[in-house]
Amino acid sequence: MRQKRLFLLPIILVTLFCSVSSAPKNGVGKYNQRPHMERKNKVQLPHNVPDGYRIAQGDMLVPQGRKFINWPEGKWPEDPITGWPSVPYVLDEDVEVDRTVIESGLQHWMDNTCITFQETKNESQPHLRFIASDGGCWSYFGRQPQNGQDIMACDTIDVVTHELGHAIGFFHEQSRSDRDAYVKILWENVAPGYESEFQTEDSLNDVEYDYTSVMHYWSTEFSGNGKQTMMPWNPYDEILMYAVYGPFGVLTFRDKLLANIEYGCLDKWSSNCEGSELECLNQGYLGADCKCVCPPGTEGETCETVIGDYYPPLSCGGNVTSPSTIHTPNYPDSYNPLEYCMWWIQAPEDKKVQITFTDFDLCYHDVDADDQLFCNELWDSLEIRLEDPLTPGELYCGESEGQYADADIGPGQQFTSEGSNMFIKFYGSDWNYWRGFTADVDFV
Ligand SMILES: *[C@@H]1O[C@H](CO)[C@@H](O)[C@H](O)[C@H]1NC(C)=O
Ligand SMILES: *[C@@H]1O[C@H](CO)[C@@H](O)[C@H](O)[C@H]1NC(C)=O
Ligand SMILES: [Zn+2]
Repeated sequence: MRQKRLFLLPIILVTLFCSVSSAPKNGVGKYNQRPHMERKNKVQLPHNVPDGYRIAQGDMLVPQGRKFINWPEGKWPEDPITGWPSVPYVLDEDVEVDRTVIESGLQHWMDNTCITFQETKNESQPHLRFIASDGGCWSYFGRQPQNGQDIMACDTIDVVTHELGHAIGFFHEQSRSDRDAYVKILWENVAPGYESEFQTEDSLNDVEYDYTSVMHYWSTEFSGNGKQTMMPWNPYDEILMYAVYGPFGVLTFRDKLLANIEYGCLDKWSSNCEGSELECLNQGYLGADCKCVCPPGTEGETCETVIGDYYPPLSCGGNVTSPSTIHTPNYPDSYNPLEYCMWWIQAPEDKKVQITFTDFDLCYHDVDADDQLFCNELWDSLEIRLEDPLTPGELYCGESEGQYADADIGPGQQFTSEGSNMFIKFYGSDWNYWRGFTADVDFV
C-alpha cells in the first residue's frame, strides 16, 4: 500500500555549516569547513555559510509529501491521564551534549501547541529516541507503530524544531498539493536524482501556504548548479524563504495553527475557556491562556486591527519604471547588515533596460575547499536577471582585496535586459564594511 510505504520512509535532513574564523577588512577570511554533509550521491551543495548562519533544510528520501500526514495512526495519541496529546521520548546517552538544544526545541513546540513531550523510561511503547548525529539530521513522518523511532535532530534549535515537525506529522511546505499556486519549480536546476524532493501529494490545506514556515525549503535547496530550484510567483517573495530575513527556525503563526488544528488543541483550549471565550478575528485563534493568538499584521485583543500583511515588507528596492539611479542603502556609506534589496526595473514594452555600474564595492568572493574562488549568495552578492524576473540570473560578487581576483563588476560595466524587464537581487551579509553599488538605469 502506498500509504504504508510512505509511512515507513525516513527522511534525512542535511545541513551544511561553515564557520569564518575571522572577518578581516584586509584579506580574505579563513573558512573552516566542517566536513560537508553531502547528499548520498555526493552532489555538492553550493554554499559556504558564514558563521552564525544556517542553511535551511535539505531532506532526503522524501518521495512525496503533504503539509500534514493524512493517516490518523501517525498522530500521537492523548495521554489517558492528562488528556493532552503526548509524545514520549528518550535521549540516547550519546546526545547528552545536545540535550539543551533538543529540550529548547521541545519546549518551543510545547509553548505554542498543546502537544506534550515527556521524557520516559518506558521503552515498551511508541516513542522518539533522540540519537547522536552522524552528520545528517532526519526524522520519520509522524508516529511509527513500533516501540521507539529514531530521530536525529542535530545541534541547532532551528533544525531540532524542523525535525520535530516531521515527527509529529508535518511534511514540507512546498510539497503541499496547492504549492504550484505559490512557487514555480525550476526543474532544470534540480540536481539529477532529486526531482522527487519537489513532488506534491493530495493534501487538505487547512492553513494558508507559508513561505516562512519552518517546514519550507530555501529557494536554492537541492540545486545542481547553484541556481534556484524554486521561485515564488511574486519574485519579491523570495526573500521570505531565507533564514537571514525572517525569524527562521521559529514556528510561524501558520505552523502553530496547523499543529493546533490537527491535534485538536483549539477545541480543547476553547472548552477550557468557557464563559470567557473571545471571538478571535482575522484568522487569530484562542490560545491556551484564553487569549487570542494573532497572526502577524494584526493586533488587538481579538486581532481586530489589521496593521500590515502576514509577511514583513521589503526593506529596500522596489519597482523602477523610469530612468534613474539605483544603489544600496546608505551609499556611499555601508549598507546595513543582512540587507536584502530587490529592484524590478520595467521599461516600456518596446524598450530594454540598460544599467551602467559606476561603483561596485561588495564583500569578497567565497573560496571553496580547494581554495578556488566562487561567487556565493551567502556572502554579498548581486543577482542580475536579464531574461525575466522568474528566471535566475548570474551572480556577481565583490572585490578580494588584492589577494585573489578583482570584483566581478567594474565601473562602467553595462548590462542590458533581453526583454523589457530586469530584476536585480542584492544580498548583503553582515560584514558591512563595504560601500555597496550604484548604477544608472536607462531604457534603450
Ligand atoms: C509502558 O507503556 C505501555 C504502553 O502504555 C504500558 O502498557 C506498560 O504497562 C508500560 N510499562 C511500564 C513498566 O510502565
Ligand atoms: C511592481 O510591478 C509588478 C509588475 O508590473 C506589479 O505587479 C506590482 O504590483 C508592482 N508593485 C508595486 C508596489 O507597484
Ligand atoms: Zn525536513
